[in-house]
Amino acid sequence: MAGLYSQGTLEEIRQRIDIVDLIGEYVSLRKQGNSYVGRCPFHDDRNPSFHVTPENGLFYCFGCGAGGDVFSFIMKIAHLDFPQAVERLAQRAGVTPVREGKSAPESRKLDKLNRLREINREAALYYYRSLRSTAGEPARRYLAERGINQDSQHKFALGYAPKNNALLSYLARKGVTTEDMLAAGLAIGRDDGSVIDRFRDRVMFPITDHRGRVVGFGGRLINPGEPKYLNSPETEIFRKKSLLYGLHLALPALRQSQVAVLVEGYLDVIALHQAGIQNAVASLGTAFTPEHAKLLKRYAREVVILFDSDEAGMKATERAIEIFSRQELAVKVASLAGAKDPDEFLRDAGPQALLEVLEKALPVVLYRFHRLKSTLPLDTPGNKSALLRQLFPDLARLSSQVERQEYIRILAQELNLSEEVIWDDFRRNQGEQRGKYQYLRDKTSQIRNNTNGNGNVNSFRTPYVIAQENMLRLLLQEPSLVSRVAPAVDPEAFHEAPYRELFLLVKEQVQARGDGAVTLKEIVSAAPEELKGLIAKLASANPLPVGDRQLQDTVVSLQRQYLQAQVRDKWKKIAEAEAKKDSSGVQILLQEISNLQRKIQSLK
Ligand code: UTP
Ligand code: MN
Repeated sequence: MAGLYSQGTLEEIRQRIDIVDLIGEYVSLRKQGNSYVGRCPFHDDRNPSFHVTPENGLFYCFGCGAGGDVFSFIMKIAHLDFPQAVERLAQRAGVTPVREGKSAPESRKLDKLNRLREINREAALYYYRSLRSTAGEPARRYLAERGINQDSQHKFALGYAPKNNALLSYLARKGVTTEDMLAAGLAIGRDDGSVIDRFRDRVMFPITDHRGRVVGFGGRLINPGEPKYLNSPETEIFRKKSLLYGLHLALPALRQSQVAVLVEGYLDVIALHQAGIQNAVASLGTAFTPEHAKLLKRYAREVVILFDSDEAGMKATERAIEIFSRQELAVKVASLAGAKDPDEFLRDAGPQALLEVLEKALPVVLYRFHRLKSTLPLDTPGNKSALLRQLFPDLARLSSQVERQEYIRILAQELNLSEEVIWDDFRRNQGEQRGKYQYLRDKTSQIRNNTNGNGNVNSFRTPYVIAQENMLRLLLQEPSLVSRVAPAVDPEAFHEAPYRELFLLVKEQVQARGDGAVTLKEIVSAAPEELKGLIAKLASANPLPVGDRQLQDTVVSLQRQYLQAQVRDKWKKIAEAEAKKDSSGVQILLQEISNLQRKIQSLK
């Protein structure tokens, strides 16, 4: 993304925009030393933990870890992508953005994507008009019967694909080539070389990306038949695994509530929006993917799953829980009683009842508890304990001890047990799951989990993480030191990928200069967007003393932590080799450990 605009343009914008002025429009800032402080706009901030430092053009929140430069700020506060942020700030700064000189194939590729979007938009318009024409009468009647009002039809740009090859002739008149119609997914090629409309006699649901650009369609038969829904095929712009129906329209509500409601069908999304629940989105009839979860995570903190109440819906719920929990989104499950899907429920029971269903959505642990309870009578200690054992993995996965405590309290009440007994069982169960070397594994995974996707580091910091951070803080204070550090420090010593990338970035920038005179600002402007938060965070900590002694200590401490991590890793491998009864493997690993230990001894 960063490559789209020339460095000169980005630099110019950064220079002309005063970060304090810009952020000051959203946050009330007070001067404090060299920086400005205020209450963070990105989390519920009681104390002013949000710092803006005009000197290096960065902001950083000590509360939630948000940070970066003017582009990062406007992207985050106005929910823009990078190009949109550049356009917005360019306008403010009175700069005409210049695109990086693109190679011919690259710009041809971009032209093609834009052309495919343009064709899909043209098609959406055509379908939209045709729904309102004479031919659209049965489709209009169908939508009216389904209770989709005019407003919703308009808002979701619903349309109708006529029976004949009308769209293709229309597009041809607009100068669209057959090749492009095929590439846009609107035409189907036949063996004799002719093409026909993919969508015929269907109610059309345009599908947009998060910026509201039409990238494909779903089309529903009016009368019973197969397939009930036909979707655009995968194309260069239509990738089902990372698109969510209704996302663009849901953005304002998502931002406001930070909660997304996930449903299964197009008509569920429309019905929910119509009922005033405007944070509803759906996948395109496919299972939820990690890409969907990442997309939602950009706008919301929590997801409420509201799927069909049939067996298929429950299975899909289980799969979605897996995907979303792994992406560290808080997940709740809402259950519809008596109706097949949310659309039907709304028609039967009305918006107020559906709001109540959403209110009553259960966090995953309790949702599973209620499901298990209905299959397992809780009249014997054996059943209670069997049920608890099935919930322990969900409890273990929670990152918050407060939540775990709360659910155990509820479970204790429901099962008529004491909280202590459940805690004991839970801990014992965790112990059994681990095996004898698990504590080592735990430490490594803690370290690994220490960075989240934003390059922010959670509050729990291991000595290894601290050693990496200290090294990087020194280098950001004094980039030229990298030429003394690099020979002694393997980039792999930075265990977390963002740390490693930052180290390599500083090294590359200093080497590119030759004279070593690189400033923090220059490093920031060369940094990819995902590293800016980390840079802002590290640069806003109190400065470290810089001297030969401190430099030496920092290097040694990082080397030691790196070697120790390798030792832990070998122990893990030993456990695996033992499990496979591979005794020669164990011997070799033990030898390697003792070599590593010797290196650790010789440090200092
Ligand atoms: P449903 O069968 O639950 O459809 O499929 P629905 O949205 O409730 O539709 P109505 O109420 O019968 O009109 C859920 C979603 O699965 C995808 C569509 O995205 C649909 O919205 N689907 C379903 C297909 O892609 N193809 C099909 O043939 C059926
Ligand atoms: Mn339905």
